[in-house]
Amino acid sequence: NIKGIIFDLDGVICSTDEYHYQAWKSIADEEGIYFDRNINERLRGVSRAESLEIILERATASYSPEQKAALMEKKNNIYRELLKNMGPRDVTEEVRSTLRKLREKGYGLSIGSSSKNTRFILERTGLTDAFDGISDGNMISRSKPDPEVFIKAAGILGLKNDDCLVIEDAVSGIDAANAAGFHSVGIGPAAEYEGAEFKIQNLSEILDI
Ligand code: G6P
Ligand code: MG
Repeated sequence: NIKGIIFDLDGVICSTDEYHYQAWKSIADEEGIYFDRNINERLRGVSRAESLEIILERATASYSPEQKAALMEKKNNIYRELLKNMGPRDVTEEVRSTLRKLREKGYGLSIGSSSKNTRFILERTGLTDAFDGISDGNMISRSKPDPEVFIKAAGILGLKNDDCLVIEDAVSGIDAANAAGFHSVGIGPAAEYEGAEFKIQNLSEILDI
């Protein structure tokens, strides 16, 4: 009796991890902090503030709240410049046709993303109208694995949590979904996670769940 589907954005609908990496990398380089693509994997699904804390684990200096806020703003400015490179071609035909078919089948579709840049990314890729609801990083005070962003999404769709599937590429997102009684679907790295109720390799497989 699934009536709604809630999609994480980064790593599920499109891929922004390389842009996050480049933006954080230039901040880390400027501060003389070691950062690589392996560490970047830990930022998947993690909020901007928590991402900075992960990067600062390797810093020798200590940073005040004001300095941290300045670094986050600087990172976001670089990141948003990079996002301007994104366009409709950054969403695969498979993702587009899956969203279309799910809508034809009558499912309510929402985004559930920690990113405060969600609307900007959806606009760049031409996907704003593909969703009935958008729940994002601007609407929440606790990030994944807290389920707040998904609970808001279900509320926007007017559905109960256990009538919704949550599609996630991050372990923290699967934990968030499970914590509030959603059905969880792992894709990408989260498809290796035993906590995921369903595991898929390609988004179109949700048409068969
Ligand atoms: C998503 C990404 C994370 C990112 C977070 C916040 O969850 O997977 O890597 O840190 O959004 O993004 P923002 O655009 O608000 O900085
Ligand atoms: Mg993600």
